[in-house]
This record gives sequence, structure tokens and C-alpha cells, in this order.
Amino acid sequence: MKNNTVFDCSIIDMSKVHTESGNITVVENGPNIPFEVKRVYYLYDVPGGEVRGGHAHYELEQYIVATSGSFEVILDDGVNRKRVFLNRPNLALHIVPGLWRELDNFSSGSISLVLASHTYSEEDYIRDYSEFKNIVSQ
Ligand code: TYD
Repeated sequence: MKNNTVFDCSIIDMSKVHTESGNITVVENGPNIPFEVKRVYYLYDVPGGEVRGGHAHYELEQYIVATSGSFEVILDDGVNRKRVFLNRPNLALHIVPGLWRELDNFSSGSISLVLASHTYSEEDYIRDYSEFKNIVSQ
């Protein structure tokens, strides 16, 4: 398990190309993301009051973006907890491996775009919080 803390996660201000007819934000392997993107997925139609996430990853690294609306991400390294509010399509939260995360307070119609460093693998998940606490305290 990576020995990361919530303080290793940061908000990345991505490029915003402003035109009179709207904005474009580009995320491209190399210039503005510290891992190679192998998978993209998005959460949408999240019912009010729902909590998503509730797991940690051994290896997976992610950028999470509120491409529409807003939500909050709770990060937990087993010692420290941090709550991050996302509501701008040009801001990405970089989540490093080894942290517990939950997503809540989804606004109506919000879309959570996730850029991920690995393809989907259930073996990379820790879905039990007490198991996570045991692993990080070793
Ligand atoms: P999960 O990662 O637990 O969702 P969240 O963290 O948003 O609450 O995934 C929910 C379900 O979707 C689970 O059954 C696995 C499946 N899934 C895939 O099949 N592929 C994927 O890339 C992802 C992210 C999830």
C-alpha cells in the first residue's frame, strides 16, 4: 500500500480556452496530468442525499472533475480527513493511491468525471473501512 496522506492530494487548475462561444478544457496525457489515463468514467443521475465511493485503492490514481454541478469529496488517509468541494469544470482533484474516499452532497444534475490511471480491477479495491485502517496502520 502506498504511504500517501490527504495532503498529497491537490486541486489542479487545468487549462481553460475561452472563446466568445464558450470554454474548452483539455486534459492530455503528458502536459497536465501526472499519470497515463487508461480509463474514463462518469457518475450522473445520482439521487439526492446519496453517498458514493466508500473505498480505497492500492494503485489507482485519479483526477475527479465536477463537469456539471457540484459535489464534495471526503479524503481519509487513516489519520487525517479532508473535505473538498468541487464545482468548476476546469478544476480537477488529484487523488493519489492509498486513500479512502467518499463522494456526497451531489447537486441535482451533477456529473462527476473521473480520469483513471488503470483499467477496472476489483482486486485494486479495499471496500471495508476497518480493513483499510488495518492496512494503513501497518
Ligand atoms: P464503484 O467504483 O464501487 O462506484 P463508486 O465508487 O462510484 O460508488 O463501482 C460501482 C459498480 O460499478 C461496481 O459494481 C463496479 C462497477 N464498475 C465497473 O464495472 N467498471 C468501472 O470502471 C467502475 C468505476 C465501476
